Amino acid sequence: MDIDTILNELTLEEKAGLCSGADFWHTKAVKRLGIEPIMVSDGPHGLRKNVDLAENPNQAIEAVCFPTASALACSFDTQLLTEMGKALGEECQAENVSVILGPGCNIKRSPLCGRNFEYFSEDPYLASRMAIAHIKGVQSKGIGTSLKHFAANNQEYRRHSVNEEIDERTLHEIYLAAFEPVVKDAKPWTVMCSYNKINGYYSSQNKLLLSDILRDEWGYEGLVMSDWGAVDDRVRGIKAGLDLEMPSSMGKNDAFIIKAVEDGTLSMDELDKCVRRVLELIAKSGESKTEMVWDKDRHHKLAEKIESECAVLLKNDDNALPLSTSDSIAFIGAFAEDPRYQGGGSSHINSYKTTSALEAVKNVCNVTYASGFSLEKDEINPELEKEALDVAAKADKVVVFAGLPESFESEGYDRKHMRMPNNQLELIDKLCEVNKNVIIVLHNGSPIELPFADKVKAILEMYLGGQAVGGAEIKLLFGDVNPSGKLAETFPLKLEDNPSYLNFPGEGDSVRYAEGIFVGYRYYEKKKMAVRFPFGHGLSYTTFEYSDLRLSDIEVGEKKNLTAELCITNTGSYAGAEVVELYIQPINPNVIRPVKELKGFEKVFLKPGESKRIVFSLDKSAFAYYSDKIHDWYSESGEYNVLIGASSADIRLSGKVHFNASKTLPIHFTLDSTGGDISETEEGKQMLDEMLKLVFIGANGGADEKSESGLEMLTAMTRDMPLHALVSFTDSPDITRERLKLLIDKLNEIYSHE
Ligand code: BGC
Repeated sequence: MDIDTILNELTLEEKAGLCSGADFWHTKAVKRLGIEPIMVSDGPHGLRKNVDLAENPNQAIEAVCFPTASALACSFDTQLLTEMGKALGEECQAENVSVILGPGCNIKRSPLCGRNFEYFSEDPYLASRMAIAHIKGVQSKGIGTSLKHFAANNQEYRRHSVNEEIDERTLHEIYLAAFEPVVKDAKPWTVMCSYNKINGYYSSQNKLLLSDILRDEWGYEGLVMSDWGAVDDRVRGIKAGLDLEMPSSMGKNDAFIIKAVEDGTLSMDELDKCVRRVLELIAKSGESKTEMVWDKDRHHKLAEKIESECAVLLKNDDNALPLSTSDSIAFIGAFAEDPRYQGGGSSHINSYKTTSALEAVKNVCNVTYASGFSLEKDEINPELEKEALDVAAKADKVVVFAGLPESFESEGYDRKHMRMPNNQLELIDKLCEVNKNVIIVLHNGSPIELPFADKVKAILEMYLGGQAVGGAEIKLLFGDVNPSGKLAETFPLKLEDNPSYLNFPGEGDSVRYAEGIFVGYRYYEKKKMAVRFPFGHGLSYTTFEYSDLRLSDIEVGEKKNLTAELCITNTGSYAGAEVVELYIQPINPNVIRPVKELKGFEKVFLKPGESKRIVFSLDKSAFAYYSDKIHDWYSESGEYNVLIGASSADIRLSGKVHFNASKTLPIHFTLDSTGGDISETEEGKQMLDEMLKLVFIGANGGADEKSESGLEMLTAMTRDMPLHALVSFTDSPDITRERLKLLIDKLNEIYSHE
C-alpha cells in the first residue's frame, strides 16, 4: 500500500470516515482506492468474535476461554503468557480478525473494581511484564493487540465520566508505569484509550497522555483507538492524537471533522497524521495475513496447563493437600459442578466446552458430592446444607468449591464489599464443625475476605481459571501438578484496610487518588499492617532453599548495571516450580518511598534435590522513582538493599549496593527555603554556618565559652525556619534580605541546573 499516494487521493470525507469504525468491529473500506476494512475483536483471554451478520454485536462464535488476567499474573511466568498469546494469535488468523483487544494492564487500585479480573496486578512492574509477554505472543503471529485502557481505568463506577485527581508522581510511578515498558518493549499495534478523565481531561482528547507522553516521550508509533463510545469531542481527539474512533458514531463525529477542516479549526496535516496511522494499521494487517487452522481441543488443553501454573496454594496446614486417591473425599459446593471461570462484560467468551472438577475427577477416583448452596440466590437452603453436612461428616477430607457468583463482579459495575455470599460462609463454618479436614477451592476475580482462613486446613485460589479450570483443579488437588502460582495482589484482612478505601469510588463525578503511590503492598508494608495473604505469597507441595546470593558489585551507577545471582534448591520430595522475587529497598531515601518494590522475578522448575542458579540483571530503573521536579524518573545516589524473597513478606536473602547517580536533582532556593533545605548542599551548609555565626555574635554581643552549644541550638532552630526570618534575628549589618538574595542566587547558579 502506497500510503503517501493514497493520502493524496483521499477526499476529505473519506479521510474523516477512516477515522471511525464502519460498525461495531470493522474499520471502513474505500473500495475505489483498494482500502479493505479490518476487523478488531475482544479479547483479551479468548476470542470474542461477533458471529458474521448477526444483528446482536455481542453474539460471539464458540471459542476457548483461557484464565483471566488476575489468574494469569499469578503464574509470574512470561513464557506461559507468550504461549497463550500465540494461541490467541492463531485463533485470530484463522478467524480473520486483525487486532485482538487487550491485554488490559490497569493497576488494581481497589479490590472492588468490577473489572479487576481483567487486570494483572497492583504492581506496575509485574503488570507490565505480563502484558509484554502476552503482546509478544499474539503479535508474533501477525495479529495486532490493543493495550488498554490507557490510562488509569481503575473503577467501573461512572467509568465513562469520572474525573480522577492524580498527582504527577503517582500517575507516572504507578499508573503509567504499568504501560510505559509495554509500549517501549512490546510495541503493541494499537493502544486503546480509557473512558475516564484524568485531572480534568477525557483520555480520548488528552494531548498530554496521547501525544506528549505516549508518542513524544515513549516513542509510540502505532495507532490509538478509543474505547467503545469514549469519544467526547472528536476534533479535540484528533488534535490530541486519537486516530480511530470505535465503534461507528453513525457519521456524526465524521461530520464534525469535516466541518473543522473546512472552517480551519483543524488542519489537514493534523487529520492526515491520524489517517496515516489508520492506513498503516490496515496495511500491516494485510501484509501479515496467513492461512491458519485453529485447533480448539489443543487450546483447551493449553488453557488447562496455563491455569494449573496460575493457581495459588494460599494455605496448606498438615499437608492436607495433595489428596490421595485412597482417601474418602467429599466435594461440596455448586462450583464443583458449575465452575465460575470468567467474568462478565466485553471479555465474556462463548466457550465451546467447559470442564468442571466433578467431571475431571471421574478419571481419578470416586468422590461423594453435594452442592450445599445455591448460586442463584444468597439464601441458606436448609435441605442443601443438611445434605452437604451429612456427606462431609462421612468423609476423610472435604473439598469446598466456593467463591463469587457471576452477579458479584463484572465489567460495568464495582463490588460493594469484599465478602463472599453468606450462604457459603455459613456452610463453610458448619462444615468445619463436622470435619477437621476442610479444604477450600476459590473461584473469584479479585480478593475476597476470608473469615474462615484460620479454621480450614487448606485454601487453593484458582481465580477465574478459564474453561478448563476443573481439569487443572483435579491435577493440583491430587498432586499431578504442584501448585506454583504466587499472588499478584495483596489479600487484605478486610476491605477497610485497603489504601483507597476512603476515596473509592469517589464522590459525584470525581475521585481523589489520595493514597498516592501507596497502592497494594506499598501501603500495607509502609503502615506495617497485617494482611491475610501478602503480595507474592504462594505455597508448594515441596520446599525450596535459597542460598549464595552474589552481587556483581557493591557500587553501581547509571551505566553500570547490577547482576544478582543466587542458588535455589528443591529440598522437598515433589518436583515443582518456584517463583523467586527480587525487591529493591532504598535504605535512607531523601524522598518518601515504599519500603520496597518488585524489580525482578523468575520462575524456575526443579526436580527433588535439584539446584539451579538464577541471574537477575538490574539497570538504573530498578532504583528509580518518578520525580516531579524533573518530570522524569530519577535514581538517587545512596544505599539500597537487594532482597530476594519467596514472597514480599518472606525475604530469604539480602545484599547491599551503593548507587551512584551521575547528577543530583536540580534545587531551586528562595528566601522561603529553610536552613535545613540549604544545608543539604555542601556550599549551602557552609554559607549557613557562616551566617549563623554572624547572627549569633550579633545577638549575644560577641562570642563566649557558650558559643558552641548556643550555635548548635541556633542551627537546630533554623532547620525549619525560612531564610528571610534570619534577618529579624540579628542586628548584624551582614544579614540583610539583599545579602541573602545574593547568596541564594549563588547557590542557584550551582544547584538549579536542568
Ligand atoms: C470495553 C473494552 C472493550 C470494548 C469492546 C468496552 O466497553 O471497555 O475493554 O474492548 O468495549 O467490546
